[in-house]
Amino acid sequence: MLLLYACFVSLIIFDDVVAYNFPYEGIQLSDSDVANNPDIAFGKLPGGVNAHCKTFPGDSNWPSVDRWNVLNASLEGALLRVVPPAAACYSGIYEDATKCALVRQGSRSTNFVKGVFHPVYALINSFRNTGHDYLGRNTRGGALKVYVHRLKAFEYLPSTKIGNYQGKAARVGAALEQYELFPHMEENNITMLAPGSSTVGAYGGYMQGGGFSYITSKFGLMADQVLALEVVTADGRFVHADPENNKDLFWTVRGGGPSE
Ligand SMILES: Cc1cc2nc3c(=O)[nH]c(=O)nc-3n(C[C@H](O)[C@H](O)[C@H](O)COP(=O)(O)OP(=O)(O)OC[C@H]3O[C@@H](n4cnc5c(N)ncnc54)[C@H](O)[C@@H]3O)c2cc1C
Ligand SMILES: *[C@@H]1O[C@H](CO)[C@@H](O)[C@H](O)[C@H]1NC(C)=O
Ligand SMILES: *[C@@H]1O[C@H](CO)[C@@H](O)[C@H](O)[C@H]1NC(C)=O
Repeated sequence: MLLLYACFVSLIIFDDVVAYNFPYEGIQLSDSDVANNPDIAFGKLPGGVNAHCKTFPGDSNWPSVDRWNVLNASLEGALLRVVPPAAACYSGIYEDATKCALVRQGSRSTNFVKGVFHPVYALINSFRNTGHDYLGRNTRGGALKVYVHRLKAFEYLPSTKIGNYQGKAARVGAALEQYELFPHMEENNITMLAPGSSTVGAYGGYMQGGGFSYITSKFGLMADQVLALEVVTADGRFVHADPENNKDLFWTVRGGGPSE
């Protein structure tokens, strides 16, 4: 059975609104936001940036509080300042014995460890869904984190036609974990190429890495099940990719590997 994959991130798209699957994808960065903040111009590095030399917190050209506030406004207040949970165990403004005890207890649980942030890179992740990538490809020094973990929408499509495929399909939010997607698929009699762990994102890094399921020997890779993708490209554009539109992107995302 085939799936319609939907929505990498829904924050950033441009004024010529392309079709999207879920209401949250309609919250879009517009050309007017960009006009007020050249830092986020589509497809451009901010002026004065030396692409060979990455800016880190503490550097003189690290964005000022005002610039962060402008970015936050363009995101309708969605910008979060992350405090590493283990900060509770260090002297300083976040020190807290009760929270520290919880962190120490939680550090023995895989769900806690992947649920919080890599202890070193807590403030500087890049793209994060469930945190299952223990190799750390969801972290990057001096980067903003795009947190897609809450994009969990699902919609069953009894009949759809894309490329050579005609039949039932589903729109799946990028963050649905295996255990969350399974009941939806079961209800609609769709075979799902599930990953081994119940909390791996069904269409995050798993699909981008190909996706090896228990039933891959019979049905192929998870990436083979995808009919279409809504993708935010590195230049900030929201695009649709399927066997006929943006074919190269459609091909690449399905197995090119996670991380940017
Ligand atoms: C316990 C366990 C069991 C596993 N079992 C299997 C298995 O059976 N078969 C298999 O093939 N793999 C398996 N994996 C590997 C798993 O598929 C990869 O770690 C995968 O990258 C996890 O993706 P995620 O989205 O859940 O996690 P994350 O760590 O959040 O993301 C992984 C990577 O994908 C990127 N990414 C995630 N979501 C998006 C998005 N929406 N847009 C753009 N980039 C994104 C991240 O930047 C990161 O580089 C397993 C891993 C673990 C820890
Ligand atoms: C972004 O704005 C929201 C709403 O005003 C605020 O709650 C949040 O703390 C701001 N984020 C940062 C990092 O300042
Ligand atoms: C799912 O398949 C079973 C067995 O073929 C069938 O009885 C059931 O009606 C199907 N349900 C749906 C929602 O298609």
